[in-house]
Amino acid sequence: MSEIIEVGSHWLAVREAEDSRARSQDLARSVRSLLPDGPIIVHDLGSGTGSMMRWLAPLLPGPQTWVLHDWNASLTERALDGELPRDLLDAPISVRSRIGELARLEGADLEGASLVTASALLDVLTAPEAHAIVDACIEVGAAALFSLSVTGEVELRPWDARDKLYEAAFNGHQRREVHGRRLLGRYGGPIVRGLFGRARWNVRTARTSWRLDDREPQLLADWFDGWVDAAEEQCPELRDECAGYREFRRGQLDRGELSAVVHHLDLLVWPR
Ligand SMILES: C[S@@+](CC[C@H](N)C(=O)[O-])C[C@H]1O[C@@H](n2cnc3c(N)ncnc32)[C@H](O)[C@@H]1O
Repeated sequence: MSEIIEVGSHWLAVREAEDSRARSQDLARSVRSLLPDGPIIVHDLGSGTGSMMRWLAPLLPGPQTWVLHDWNASLTERALDGELPRDLLDAPISVRSRIGELARLEGADLEGASLVTASALLDVLTAPEAHAIVDACIEVGAAALFSLSVTGEVELRPWDARDKLYEAAFNGHQRREVHGRRLLGRYGGPIVRGLFGRARWNVRTARTSWRLDDREPQLLADWFDGWVDAAEEQCPELRDECAGYREFRRGQLDRGELSAVVHHLDLLVWPR
């Protein structure tokens, strides 16, 4: 197995409430009309600790079985250990996990799928992984909902000319090569949308946004620090060119004066 990029469960927990608020309810409602009657099986790809399941399971009818796919067993174990959500009619759901690399995903791994989901995944994939996922979905013919792929656009308020330099560097960092894996970054969502379009599947998109401000100062601070750290790792010269930027923004954040909109794309696809 190629080297795993560790995603911290702390970060997944800090962002979960905002992810839930931001994901497209409209697309989730449309999912319902695409499901077969009777028991459904949902395969959640790159499930992490199960945030997508906790958000979507209560919006869908049952009986529901979720299969959580991730290459990091310590994350899926947390999903199975924690309190499980209930379905639309408040009935319990059942959950199991499948540990493996999405690069090797095949139709057989999505056995019985009524729906495939993923959240915050497409931007951290490589091209072969994105192709494997699309091919597997097409093989099983189930609808798929891909929530919260970053588009690379960030709006900080109040405005500062240095924001754009950080945005460009952050977007470059998202496209970096990690242990031989070239990440898709902000192109992940559009590439997957294009692959399903080429297969003549129906495609619907929704622009979805994190809105971060002093209502959730910890999330704003964690997101901002991660954004600046990634940008400066990608372009170390920013530390000199934009000296004082981090401290200036942190001061605004501490005084409750900073807000950020982080744009994402949600994608719903289904066969014709
Ligand atoms: C940003 S996290 C999102 C987790 C979860 N969907 C959520 O919204 O909280 C991306 C997840 O995908 C998993 N992942 C990334 N690339 C993967 C790959 N190639 N194969 C399997 N899992 C992968 C990571 O371990 C991580 O749990």
